[in-house]
Amino acid sequence: MDYNIMLIGFMGVGKTTVSKKLSKKLGMPEIDMDAYIVEHENKAIADIFAESGEEYFRKIETECLVEIQKVKGKIVSCGGGAVLKDENVSYMKNGGVILLLTATPQTVYERVKNCTDRPILNGNMNVEFITELMNKRKQRYLEVADIIIATDNKTVDEIVNEIEKELGNLM
Ligand code: S3P
Repeated sequence: MDYNIMLIGFMGVGKTTVSKKLSKKLGMPEIDMDAYIVEHENKAIADIFAESGEEYFRKIETECLVEIQKVKGKIVSCGGGAVLKDENVSYMKNGGVILLLTATPQTVYERVKNCTDRPILNGNMNVEFITELMNKRKQRYLEVADIIIATDNKTVDEIVNEIEKELGNLM
């Protein structure tokens, strides 16, 4: 495969879970951008935010994306904010198909409410905040995506099957 499948979307839409299952189904290796950053910095995402701030995190995120995009044939689960910079989107589109997963704020809340490893949601863990931030980012997610898959009320298998079909249509 001479391209990467870039999974994007808001926190809690299921990028990591779907990416793992899709990786098995398509026989393509999988990389989680956040996990890559944690390894690169040898620090949890929450600690990077707390000690060095979001701007520093975004800088490292871009550096890691550049490294990740050098080798094709992978499924890449991207951090929810990774597409906010134009620069990042052009790296992603260079030899990459951008696949957006969506979910309603209520679904996201149900999936992330007990997690403490997302600094942006810490202290803001409620449907109102999620709705507001999602509304700010929604247009951006939609305009950069090559494929869009809604995940509400679907099993991971159903989502993966849909992705396979859409990829087939695109290629
Ligand atoms: C972020 C999403 C997180 C992580 C960081 C910032 C965001 O990734 O990169 O906490 O700005 O949406 P997930 O979408 O994998 O949770």
